[in-house]
Amino acid sequence: MKRSTINQLLRDAKAFIASRGFYLPPFAFWSPADWATRGPEVAEIPTNALGWDITDFGSGDYTTCGLLLFTIRNGHPHNWETMSGKLYAEKIMVVGVDQVTPFHFHWNKTEDIINRGGGDLVVEVYNATADERLCDSPVTVSVDGTLRTVAAGTRIRLGPGESITLPTRLYHAFWGAGERVLAGEVSLVNDDTRDNRFLEPRGRFPEIEEDEAPLHLLVTDYGRYYTAERS
Ligand SMILES: [Fe+2]
Repeated sequence: MKRSTINQLLRDAKAFIASRGFYLPPFAFWSPADWATRGPEVAEIPTNALGWDITDFGSGDYTTCGLLLFTIRNGHPHNWETMSGKLYAEKIMVVGVDQVTPFHFHWNKTEDIINRGGGDLVVEVYNATADERLCDSPVTVSVDGTLRTVAAGTRIRLGPGESITLPTRLYHAFWGAGERVLAGEVSLVNDDTRDNRFLEPRGRFPEIEEDEAPLHLLVTDYGRYYTAERS
C-alpha cells in the first residue's frame, strides 16, 4: 500500500470515529516527530503493538478486502506465562460496506466483536475441523449473552449495540452492510504475529511504498522512528 493512501485512510478514519462520538487516546494523534522525542516511558505502546494498523490482507484491494484498526490497549503474550499484568485487549475498527475481513480463527484469543454504530456488521461463522478447514457442523455462539445455534456459514447480522463472542477455533469473516460500521473488539491478549489462523494464506501487514511522510505511525513503523533508549 502507498503511504499516501494510508495517510488518507487515517484522516478519514479519525473523522469517522469522531463523528460517532468515540474518543481515541492522545497517542493516536502523535506525529513521527512526536515519537522521536519520546523515551522509555512510552515503551508499552510499541511493545504491546498499540496504535494504528491498516491491512489489505495482501489482497491489493483494500476497499473490498481490508481493515483499519486502532489497538487502544493490549497485554503482551508473555503475560500468559505469568498470568499477571494485562491479559486483555481492546480495539476500535472501521469496517466499510462489503469490505471483508477474510476467514480466520485464533488459537488462543477469545474475542467479542461489537457494533458500536453505523450500519450493520455481518459476521459469517464456521466451526473448524481438526485439520483447520471449514466444518459443516452447526455453530453455537453467544450474541450478547444469548446462545444461538445456527447452520454452518450463517451470516449473523449485528445492528448497532449488538455483539458476538468468537471463541477460539471458530472461523469468522465480517464486513459492513448498509453503512460503514464502527466496530469494537474486546478480547484476551492480541498477538497478530502468532495467533491468526487464516483459512487461505494471507498477509497480515502490508508492504508500504513510501511516497510521502507518515501522518501517524502504524504498529509496524515504530522501530524506524522510536527507540526506548532515547530520552
Ligand atoms: Fe478475529
